[in-house]
Amino acid sequence: MAIRTIRTEGDEILRKKCKEVTELTPRIQTLIEDMIETMYRANGVGLAAPQVGILRRVVVIDVTDGKEPIVLINPVILETSGEQTGGEGCLSIPGKTATVTRPNYVRVLAYDEKMQQREVEGTELLARAICHECDHLEGKLYVDIAESPIMDTDVYYAEQEEE
Ligand code: NI
Repeated sequence: MAIRTIRTEGDEILRKKCKEVTELTPRIQTLIEDMIETMYRANGVGLAAPQVGILRRVVVIDVTDGKEPIVLINPVILETSGEQTGGEGCLSIPGKTATVTRPNYVRVLAYDEKMQQREVEGTELLARAICHECDHLEGKLYVDIAESPIMDTDVYYAEQEEE
């Protein structure tokens, strides 16, 4: 496994639409392993392939502190419900955060790391992460739909505490 370089905002690759994975090749398997390692190293809860410069529909997520990484290949959101409004960040926009409203529940159809099709359900942070990472596959970033100014993370948390 290897740590890959995370592309940051301004890199055109983050704005491109990703292609479906049709076959689980050794190259895709290595990509998945590297993405998980890169996400953990960066203390992120999710990472999408374009963030490491690969225009494929592959996402990794872990909202459990390293216990349960989820791999979503060719994810399709089947159902959403409810709403949550809160702070969101992105490893491609380091040190920044803004307020984003997302569904509070998401059900997604995807292939896992063995190319087995499965459905994954998530609420709260997991639902937010699924939506955020699926957006990356379309070339979308959270700043496109942010409802507050994009702030430095330390400023944001200071303002939250004042409320
Ligand atoms: Ni992101």
